[in-house]
Amino acid sequence: MVEKVQMLKEEAMQALQAASNLPELDDWRVKYLGRKGGAVTQLLRSIPELPAEERPAFGQAANELKGFLQERYEARHAELSRPTVEMTEAIDVTLPGRPVNLGRLHLTIQTLREMYAIFGQMGFQVEEWPEVETDLLNFELLNMPPHHPARDMWDTFYVNPKVVLRTHTSPGQIRSMRKHCSDPIRIILPGKCYRYEAVTARSEFMFYQVEGLAVGRRITLADLKGTMVDFARQMFGADREVRFRCSYFPFTEPSVEVDMDCIICGGEGCRVCKHTGWVEICGAGMVHPQVLSNGGYDPDVYSGFAFGMGPERVAMLKHDIDDIRYFYSNDLRFLKQFG
Ligand code: PHE
Repeated sequence: MVEKVQMLKEEAMQALQAASNLPELDDWRVKYLGRKGGAVTQLLRSIPELPAEERPAFGQAANELKGFLQERYEARHAELSRPTVEMTEAIDVTLPGRPVNLGRLHLTIQTLREMYAIFGQMGFQVEEWPEVETDLLNFELLNMPPHHPARDMWDTFYVNPKVVLRTHTSPGQIRSMRKHCSDPIRIILPGKCYRYEAVTARSEFMFYQVEGLAVGRRITLADLKGTMVDFARQMFGADREVRFRCSYFPFTEPSVEVDMDCIICGGEGCRVCKHTGWVEICGAGMVHPQVLSNGGYDPDVYSGFAFGMGPERVAMLKHDIDDIRYFYSNDLRFLKQFG
């Protein structure tokens, strides 16, 4: 009799596996566990007809089977109730996917890389120096002793009386000269600079500069001019013109302001060039003899030129952006337009 229970169990389990949807599963339930004609129910009902000695073992086996099948039934029910693609049609596989947000380089970094490529072709290598700088390097060794009025050209964030956030990349001139120890130099020094200034459409308290420095035995103002013309033409178009205007920086002599004919109006006069036809692209000059010797180069033997350019300014001219505040206010609608 106990074999009969075992056989029924095997049969029921096979049928359960074969039930592949909820209606079939329900048929299975009626057939095996149904209260009236279910196979297991019938088995239990037949107990009283058995010889007394067989009843306990058979009864126990039949009850165990009932519990076992009940459990299996519930598990299978849960399995078949899970939504599937076919059953619910909830996923429309023809829908376009969600766009993946790709990162991109910041406009300043893109512009810096373009600048590296252009100056790189002219033989300039990139060097970087600290943003937190000593007063000595940021000012004194660039010909500005403590009470020199030219310090007013740069409103300064002081970390302590002897340490500043660099106001320009020019202290890198001294650092690089000291590193290269009288070898010829042709480098650019990019990096962040800080000024304690009100933020306006034209000035930020943090911005980048690219310092350029060339030192050698016969470097002249003509080399500076050639470098500036070549840069302007590669960056802004082959027919660009460049002019020098007299200026003053304590660490260059002579000092100049470098202008380029306006790329928007081609020199006619417009909003961008304030109707002058020219836009300023950097400050520059011949390295002051005192600065050369502060860097360890004999000014009787060596000469050099230096310039300081603002990559944000370059990007603003190139893309006709009229407010520098867009650069670092993290508005993705602006930043996403580039790259
Ligand atoms: N450091 C100057 C500035 O920040 C620019 C400059 C660099 C001028 C190199 C001359 C030579 O305004």
